[in-house]
Amino acid sequence: MKTVFKNISKIYTSNGNTFQAGALQGAVKIYSNCDIAVSNGIITDIDTGISHGSADDVVDCLGGICLPGFIDSHTHPVFAATRQDEFIDRLKGLSYEEITERGGGIHASIEKARAASAEELFQVLERNVRQFISQGITSFEAKSGYALDRKGELKLLKVLNRYREGSELDIKITYLGGHLLPKGISSEEFIAQVKSTIKEVADDGLADYFDVWVEDIAFDLKQAGEMIAEADNAGLGVRIHANEISSFGGGMLAEKYPLTSIDHFDFFTDEELEVIARKKINITLLPMTQFSLGTEDYPDASLLIKKGIPVSLATDFNPGTCYSSNIQFLAQIAFMKCGMDVYEILNALTINPAASLQMAEMTGTIEVGKHGDLVIMDIPDLESMFYAVGMNNIRYTVKNGKIIYRRTYES
Ligand code: NIG
Ligand code: FE
Repeated sequence: MKTVFKNISKIYTSNGNTFQAGALQGAVKIYSNCDIAVSNGIITDIDTGISHGSADDVVDCLGGICLPGFIDSHTHPVFAATRQDEFIDRLKGLSYEEITERGGGIHASIEKARAASAEELFQVLERNVRQFISQGITSFEAKSGYALDRKGELKLLKVLNRYREGSELDIKITYLGGHLLPKGISSEEFIAQVKSTIKEVADDGLADYFDVWVEDIAFDLKQAGEMIAEADNAGLGVRIHANEISSFGGGMLAEKYPLTSIDHFDFFTDEELEVIARKKINITLLPMTQFSLGTEDYPDASLLIKKGIPVSLATDFNPGTCYSSNIQFLAQIAFMKCGMDVYEILNALTINPAASLQMAEMTGTIEVGKHGDLVIMDIPDLESMFYAVGMNNIRYTVKNGKIIYRRTYES
């Protein structure tokens, strides 16, 4: 099966299979008026006027721009119910911590996730991923973390694995065993339970990564370290939630443990930056969460980039702190609030998350030999994506050369 995408005004992409960090964070190649040929899922040609003769299909991109498919490297898409009531409570002045203390927040999701059937959870996941695709996401990371007991977490992970088996998207799965301490169990007992579940999850191949939230209301560095060491021994990669609500020092875990990514990182100290830069660890910023929490504690990404730390951006899609998978709006927030420029943001949404999810050999850039994962947008240049605040400019989302989302109008 060969498809030629023609009539593209500009292609924006970086090259290679590794992080674009430091001065390279903003290095992007632009092709003007080129077509893209994809054969059996793989990009075979990027050139002007590719012959359509041998193509099975020709897609007219109508003069729009083309970007690599977005890679969302931090999502929580499998849960039983949304929590819109909390969003309203936050607008009325309650903080996320206050809501958590009175049994809301993640606690409210726990009861429902434990009670839900695998089929119900699968349907929620399916609906959420459809939204991802309409936002141009062609690969993503998905966490468990809403049941927080052995049985329930295995159920969530199995739902994610079942979905992955039947999906064309590239998906990495994370066991978020250390999300929060559930009610009615001591931290010692809970951590022991997480550690034994880590072993089971790794032995059964149910997850690629382990995750723990390092924060005042969740786990401290010592508790997180205990779980991380177990995950590392079991062969799971480790991604952590850290410093979302306060400067809690979670970045210092990088000194002792092999972390794949530190996520949120809205607050940080020079000491944390020094360790993270030395260990060359990817930081995944999630500023749409700050927007949605209404706290607006946006991190200054330029400080990370100056230190040569690779920066990724992800949605943090979840039912509590950020119920949005709108990558274009995320890009706009990063541009307006986090001190990042247009090309730095493009790499933070494509090659860097692909590298952090260990899938950059196949996706994250538009290059011959990589998978045909593309977004086609009906705007004249990349700058217009930032200017069109809140709008969805996507005409086609393409996975392995196949259109999986197409905007259509009835008239
Ligand atoms: O990334 N920080 C921890 N976890 C989520 C929130 C989960 C929830 O409130 O349901 C986050 O913000
Ligand atoms: Fe998160």
